[in-house]
Amino acid sequence: MAKKVNQFDLDEIFRHLRTNIEFSQMDEAIKVINVVSTNPNEGKSTVSTNLARIFADKYSRVLLVDGDLRNPSDHKHYKVSNARGLSNLLSRYTPGTNLLSYDEIVQLEFQNNSTLYFIPTGSRVPNPTEVLSSKKFGEFINAAREIFDYIIIDCPPVNRVSDGIPISSVADGTLYVVSSKETDKRAAKAAINDLIRNGANIFGIVLTKVEELSNNKYGYGYGYGGKNNHE
Ligand SMILES: Nc1ncnc2c1ncn2[C@@H]1O[C@H](COP(=O)(O)OP(=O)(O)O)[C@@H](O)[C@H]1O
Ligand SMILES: [Mg+2]
Repeated sequence: MAKKVNQFDLDEIFRHLRTNIEFSQMDEAIKVINVVSTNPNEGKSTVSTNLARIFADKYSRVLLVDGDLRNPSDHKHYKVSNARGLSNLLSRYTPGTNLLSYDEIVQLEFQNNSTLYFIPTGSRVPNPTEVLSSKKFGEFINAAREIFDYIIIDCPPVNRVSDGIPISSVADGTLYVVSSKETDKRAAKAAINDLIRNGANIFGIVLTKVEELSNNKYGYGYGYGGKNNHE
């Protein structure tokens, strides 16, 4: 069941989400988190970029990966170039090499001196699904586990193409974004079932665009469950 958060303060909302993620690690550590939703425009990138920034406040090695190769947006949020990124890195990545030596990984410094490591999508590729379901992507994420405290992957929507599905099996936990304005319940249910059938561990639902009675224009709600306890 989703609880409504009334605070206007966006950071406070995401700190709350961070705490929930930190405490949702019952049996296995949740280190690689992917953010998916049913359709475009439901708030995945907003959740991913804010959550990554809030994790970076607390942990020194946090990586945000823009995995939405068909609709890149996180580089615009951070005002950095998307000329090189994930697609370029994977095309030349060799397991066993030092990840931090790849210049596709950008270090973003925030005003409070925290650092966020970020990989934009990079050059457009004709086959995003193949790239994201490749063995290399899995190997890269596994190598990244060794050096990062948390890895957040902003994913494509599940309904349009199935790119979000292979990423979910590389991740330890999937956050499912539902827009109270746009998301069709039946479509979301079908997409969630699809993810679970393919081994995703959906450990939280983030409800975006919640209309509040107060003037909170940036509504969020969230629900949490245990393994595969999707609400
Ligand atoms: N919680 C929210 N409340 C109101 N507007 C939101 C919220 N989250 C996202 N938006 C807006 O919705 C639009 C799409 O958000 P975005 O994060 O880019 O979605 P996606 O990555 O799923 O395509 C943007 O204009 C963004 O500012
Ligand atoms: Mg997006």
